[in-house]
Amino acid sequence: MIASVQKAPRLTQDVANRIVSEIYAIEGSATPLPSERDQNFLISRKLDLPTSDAPHAQQFVLKIANSEEPLEFLELQNQMMQFLGARQTDLEFPRIVPARTGDNIARITDEDDRGHFVRLLTWIEGVCFAEVQPHGRKLLASLGRALAQMDAALVEFTHPAARRDFYWDLRSAAEAQELVGLLPDHRRPLVEPFFADWEKIEWSQLRFSVIHNDANDYNILVRGTEQSGHRVTAILDYGDVVHTATVCNLAVALAYVMLDKPNPISAAAQVVAAYHETYPLTESEIEVLYTLAVTRLCCSVCYAAKQTGDVPDNEYLNISNAPAWALLEKLSAVPVEWPTRMFRYACGLPTVREADSRSARTSKELISARGQHLGPSLSLSYRQPIHIISGAKQSLYAVDGRRYLDCVNNVAHVGHSHPHVVRAASEQMAILNTNTRYLHEKIIEYSQRLTTLLPEPLSVVYLVNSGSEANELALRLARAHTGEEDVIVVASAYHGNTSAMIDLSPYKFDGPGGHGCPSWVHTVPMPDVYRGEYRDADAGSRYAHHVADAAQVAAKGRGIASFFCESALSCGGQVILPRGYLKAAFAAVRAAGGVCVADEVQTGFGRAGERFWMFETQEAVPDIVTLGKPIGNGHPIGAVITTREIADSFDNGMEYFNTFGGNPVSCAVALAVLDVIRDEELQQNAQEVGQYLLDGLRQLQQEHPLIGDVRGLGLFLGIEFVRDRETLEPADAPAAEIVERMKERGVLLSTDGPFHNVIKIKPPLVFSERDADFLLSNLKDVLED
Ligand SMILES: Cc1ncc(COP(=O)(O)O)c(C=O)c1O
Repeated sequence: MIASVQKAPRLTQDVANRIVSEIYAIEGSATPLPSERDQNFLISRKLDLPTSDAPHAQQFVLKIANSEEPLEFLELQNQMMQFLGARQTDLEFPRIVPARTGDNIARITDEDDRGHFVRLLTWIEGVCFAEVQPHGRKLLASLGRALAQMDAALVEFTHPAARRDFYWDLRSAAEAQELVGLLPDHRRPLVEPFFADWEKIEWSQLRFSVIHNDANDYNILVRGTEQSGHRVTAILDYGDVVHTATVCNLAVALAYVMLDKPNPISAAAQVVAAYHETYPLTESEIEVLYTLAVTRLCCSVCYAAKQTGDVPDNEYLNISNAPAWALLEKLSAVPVEWPTRMFRYACGLPTVREADSRSARTSKELISARGQHLGPSLSLSYRQPIHIISGAKQSLYAVDGRRYLDCVNNVAHVGHSHPHVVRAASEQMAILNTNTRYLHEKIIEYSQRLTTLLPEPLSVVYLVNSGSEANELALRLARAHTGEEDVIVVASAYHGNTSAMIDLSPYKFDGPGGHGCPSWVHTVPMPDVYRGEYRDADAGSRYAHHVADAAQVAAKGRGIASFFCESALSCGGQVILPRGYLKAAFAAVRAAGGVCVADEVQTGFGRAGERFWMFETQEAVPDIVTLGKPIGNGHPIGAVITTREIADSFDNGMEYFNTFGGNPVSCAVALAVLDVIRDEELQQNAQEVGQYLLDGLRQLQQEHPLIGDVRGLGLFLGIEFVRDRETLEPADAPAAEIVERMKERGVLLSTDGPFHNVIKIKPPLVFSERDADFLLSNLKDVLED
């Protein structure tokens, strides 16, 4: 039965002041607060008359219960607040101020002779979640954590009064469903399908506990600033507490989180992710979470339809009505499977449940078939290769069901199989995929968005299919613009797998099977301040001198077309360029008539943390930027961005045609990647988690002499292993062994660098502090083993 709103107390402020004075010996002034069934006043203390329990409190909430509210239910609320207040959580809970008589619950009689129970609670400072904007990554994560901590704590809390029939319990949504007839005709179809989904919930599959059940956006208190980051500090109002399916607590919160959001499911998914990380949801809970969240909205509009009819002036009931309808309308257009996919993804579970976990062949058979049918120069990672069948976020799942934490795949930039990217690809694939000889909105939209992320004068875009192809085109652009052939590259650099790029990659031409340095290529030393020639504060300009020297080949009758440089050296061993290097090197190259290419194939799109592009951390602007790997989150796409001047030089009459480059599907994918980076604030995440991980690794370095150097920016990190910190003798075999041992523990890493002694860390940008902790603790164990 819907509680009678008519029986909500209607006391005046004067009466409230009198109650506080007579019952609690506090002289205060009362201001009404909104409430549905009860009546609440904010009490600001006038005179400093200390109370025994809260001697310093200046503000309180006077809660006058509905006359139908049983005493034992108020006792439940008090006990629950006291129980939670005694637990370790990030939250504050109101304290109960006893009456002069010592009772935690007092009783008054109103002018209609109705009895009401009365409580006084301490006031908690903060701003309502509803009034904080924007609801950024940190706030949403903090809400998820707060709810999870609360639910985890309440597993041990019981009270007989919580086992009640309550119309706001989502198990009782049938009571709201019966009111659908009160809704306007055009609104009914918005809620009916959601109620139909609710009917299919198998409640016996869910965990049960006492829950708060009303984390709406006016009950959640927030502190902090946009700069420092908002965080949830309290979840108030225990009037809806009930023993029910635990997941309903999160579902209720999600209903309100989704209100007024441009992308409600993404916002909800961020709360779900943090909740799951703190207090894991079961698969059955994830499966019903969205239905329950929307059911809450449906209940709200149905009860409001009834109660606004009954009590037209109940302001509280109207508060969330218009946004709730707007949201229901928006959600009605969302494909049915989409939210659960997003929530599964948020929890790091494969979004498609029926992933092929029953491979037809064993790993051994696959290895042998590879040997027969694939080129033998392809390699496999690990002594015992792993057979991965699905991925979600930073998790990869092997055929045996084992989960691996991916710390090295910088291609799955926004997370393995991110549903937003998958959806963009499949939707566009179903509509059209052609080439750039037709007009299409998406290639223009993408090019415009990409160039707004780049500094002037980088304004002209070519879309290609890989990092190698991007660098190939960059080489052609540079040669067309300068009319010269020669290129300067950095030792150990890798720029791609095509003939010309192998020629430009010392990593390959100086390695096994390599043909040595071609005559048109000039190699300069790696600007490595750990093991290189220069290690001082001037290292940047000193290494840049080598570039200037190489550029002087012009004097010997060979002009310089270009200087190719990775904005941080990946194959070279995760080397961060010393300050001032690129700026000075670019100046020298330009002075010699060459153009500067920043190879951002590994490093772009926010990985650097503090800046969107790694080259920006060098305060240098290239003439050509090449992009690959993360740009399509695994979909094959690459890009070259250059200046109008260089593009015009390339436009010499020969058509540039690329069958797949810039096709609508690739552009849809690349746009989706940019959306996710922005919406999930992944650049900021890279910065914060990267710094956290770097600090943790530096701590490990102090304890383990095998770790010679730890370096990195954002989520682009390297750990260099040495046998001797003086001689820097590379510890390649130990590094390889550590990678193997980490894999056994479910952590994927790899080694690189000229001596194969650097462990690379460049995970998907969704990597969390918890992942960093997992990586650090396992690395510590392996090092100490
Ligand atoms: C810095 C850099 N440039 C270019 C490439 C080539 O990219 P792709 O393999 O997509 O052709 C790579 C690949 O590892 C790379 O690391």
